Amino acid sequence: MDRNRGILIAGNWKMNHGARATSDFAAAAKSGWGSLSDRARKALAVTAGPGKLDALVFPPFLSLETARREFTGIPVAVGAQNVHFEEKGAFTGEISGAMLKEIGVGTTLVGHSERRQYFGETDASAKKRAESHLNQGFTVVLCYGETRAEREASRTEAVLERQLRDGLPAEWNERLVLAYEPVWAIGTGLTATPEQAEDAHAFSRAFLVKKYGADNAAKTKILYGGSVTPENVRGLLAKPNVDGGLVGGASLKAESFLALVEGAGSFL
Ligand code: PGA
Repeated sequence: MDRNRGILIAGNWKMNHGARATSDFAAAAKSGWGSLSDRARKALAVTAGPGKLDALVFPPFLSLETARREFTGIPVAVGAQNVHFEEKGAFTGEISGAMLKEIGVGTTLVGHSERRQYFGETDASAKKRAESHLNQGFTVVLCYGETRAEREASRTEAVLERQLRDGLPAEWNERLVLAYEPVWAIGTGLTATPEQAEDAHAFSRAFLVKKYGADNAAKTKILYGGSVTPENVRGLLAKPNVDGGLVGGASLKAESFLALVEGAGSFL
C-alpha cells in the first residue's frame, strides 16, 4: 500500500467546546498520550514525507488560543473552521488569516457542507478562500461531497466533478488537502462503506491527475469525512485512496480522538 502521502486525522469540533472544555480535552489528551502504541507515536514523530501521521483539531475561534497553549507537549496542531478570503477590511463578523497566524494557527477548513447549507458558501467562494489561504501559507482542507438525493439519483460523480472543477484552486499546492464528505453521512451515523469512499476518492484523484498532473495528484491527501469512528476508521484507511479522516462527533472526546490516531498509526 502506498503510504507516501502519510495520514491526517483532523477533528472538526464545529460549534462545540469553549475554552474550558478545550482545556479539559487537552488535559485528557495529554494524560492519554502515553497509552498510544510505539508505532503510532513513531509515526507522529516523523516530521515529513512517507510514514508521517498528523493530528489536528479545528476548535471554534474562541478556543483557538487555549488549544494552542494547552496542546504544548503533544503533537496536535490547530486549525480554524472559517476564514475570510480578504486579508483585512470592512467585513463585519469575519476573521482574517493574519489574525490566525499571529496565534500559531496553520490550517483552515474551507467549503464544509454546513457552511454551504447554512451560510451560503459555494464552490466559487470555497475556491476563493482556498486560493487566498494557500497564498498566505496555510494548509487548506477543502470539503466537498454529494447529498443523499444526489446519490440516489446516481448523480454522485457529476456532483463531485462540478465541485472539484469549480472549487479547486487554479494552481496545485503541496499544502492543499481534500476532504470528501458525503452530506448524507455527516452527523447521521451512516458512514459511507469503505468501497463507497474509495470509489469517490479514486474518482477525485483521477480528476486531480487531469487538473494538476499525476505527480501532484499522487501527493495530495484525500480525507474521508462522515460519521468516522474509532470502530470504522481502520476499514476506511485500508483503502488506497483514503489518506485520513475529517471527524466531527468522534473527535470531541480525547479518548475517542486518541483511538482514531491509534487506528491511523497502525497503517504507518
Ligand atoms: P461527523 O462530522 O463525523 O460528526 O459525521 C464530520 C464533519 O462534518 O466533518
